[in-house]
Amino acid sequence: MAEGDPLSNEKAYYVTTPIYYVNDAPHIGHAYTTTAGDVLTRWHRQRGEKVWYLTGVDEHGTKVQRAAEAGGVTPQQWVDRLVTESWLPVLETVDAANDDFIRTTEDRHVQRVQRFWEQVRENGYVYSAPYEGPYCVGCEEFKLPGDLVEGTGEFEGQLVCPVHGKPAEELREENWFFQLSAFTDRLIEHYEAHPEAVRPQSAYNEVMAFLRGGLVDISMSRSSVDWGIPLSWDPEQVVYVWFDALLNYATATGYGSEPGSADAERYATTWPADVHLVGKDILRFHAVYWPAMLMAAGEPLPGQVFAHGWLLVGGEKMSKSKLTGIAPEQIIDHFGSDAFRYYFMRAISFGQDGSFSWEDMSARYTAELANGLGNLASRATAMVGKYRAGALPEPGPLGEQEMAVVERLAAAIPAADSAVTELDFATAIGEVRAVVELVNQYVTEVEPWVLAKDESSAQRLDTVLYTMCEALRAIAVAYNPVMPKAMASLWEQLGAESALGSLTAQRLGDAGRWGQLPAGAVITKGAALFPRLPDESPEI
Ligand code: ME8
Ligand code: MG
Repeated sequence: MAEGDPLSNEKAYYVTTPIYYVNDAPHIGHAYTTTAGDVLTRWHRQRGEKVWYLTGVDEHGTKVQRAAEAGGVTPQQWVDRLVTESWLPVLETVDAANDDFIRTTEDRHVQRVQRFWEQVRENGYVYSAPYEGPYCVGCEEFKLPGDLVEGTGEFEGQLVCPVHGKPAEELREENWFFQLSAFTDRLIEHYEAHPEAVRPQSAYNEVMAFLRGGLVDISMSRSSVDWGIPLSWDPEQVVYVWFDALLNYATATGYGSEPGSADAERYATTWPADVHLVGKDILRFHAVYWPAMLMAAGEPLPGQVFAHGWLLVGGEKMSKSKLTGIAPEQIIDHFGSDAFRYYFMRAISFGQDGSFSWEDMSARYTAELANGLGNLASRATAMVGKYRAGALPEPGPLGEQEMAVVERLAAAIPAADSAVTELDFATAIGEVRAVVELVNQYVTEVEPWVLAKDESSAQRLDTVLYTMCEALRAIAVAYNPVMPKAMASLWEQLGAESALGSLTAQRLGDAGRWGQLPAGAVITKGAALFPRLPDESPEI
């Protein structure tokens, strides 16, 4: 749970994931965003920053209501069951260290959503009018001209949603509208002044093009839906599900709570969010509608919306609606959570689409984790055990080969750190991996097992063993945000806990400094960090 002193009034580095629809169980697309947020926030904690990481679920709306009806239960029963049986457990499965989990049916959310819209109405941005037009239930979105595309197959000749491949439903209802059009210019100005506020560049360009086309007002309530949050001034209508859901980022940390209360304090030290992580499917909601809502209420805007790519199946977005999802546990039961986290952050450039393949994951697991890092750790700990009775020796003078390791390490950690600042997880991991490879290559070259046979090389062997273990010390710190379980085990095997304190207490800024693991540290060869796995792929 929360790191740092919750009472400190320092602003937390605040990261969110989307809150996922509980129309069905999670798949690896949801786990992907949650993992990215977890790596990002663990990284910032490892820097010594105060952090707040929020995830949760979106429980209202037509999509969830229909899923419940199809399942023969009430919407509340449906969401309670799925949250308990699937959405909370998947956080454990991927080893997420989120600080909070918000459900939109919670009181704290419901009340604050009502308060927010009262405020926006008071500020003059809400009016009543009829809505007539297409609505995609899959997206829970009022579709604009240009949003729909020509259908194929069974929907040939019709306009369909490009994400869900189905025609939108025609709606005609009396709604309350949000005066989105009032914010076109202010949003353009904001993003011109803050180009970092939407990332990657392709997402920024898409948002700017959309804004330059001009915004039209949009329904903020639904009169033909009843699974939602009633408007306080017109309880016959519920808040349009997106204008309920987006607010979670503010309500969860205390927007609209009693001045002076602990919740108000929390809001003051978290809001605005530093990064909203989203898939590119929901960019417009986060980079256009959400900041406009905040402007209308007079609240500060988030620092950044980062739209990552999609995990694809057969060239299309993996999706609950299309039943193409792979459950995270199908992969994690075999490879473990660390390998899952490593693979998805390493193999797909964050911001681009990617396809999961069991073969690719197996190959990288074997090459980079089992034979790469795992083998280095087991060689280092086994050799200190065998040649020095498990006590880390005092190194002799460092030669050219050792200096190459020392220098590579000193450069790699700041390089990885700046890559994470850009949410470029693949590059960050690549930097650390290059150190692992260099040290493995070093071991192959210096052949410590040969040095061990010659008493006159004893000091040289000390230096080599020290170099291996000290490099692993730094690698454990840098990889801890990515692979916390394996790195905790490595930390223990290096005897680092008693020498240097807990792994989470190590600071990234200092991790590349050579010579921290003291001579005499008790090295033990524990279980393999990444055991070799049977080469079988289950039916997925
Ligand atoms: O949109 N590849 O919920 P949702 C990568 N409730 N990421 C994927 C993915 C895929 N194939 N499929 C899903 C909603 N995701 C709203 C959000 S936020 C205020 C409300 C991830 O269940 C990705 O983060 O459809 C995507 O944006 C999100 O799940 C959509 O989840
Ligand atoms: Mg979706």
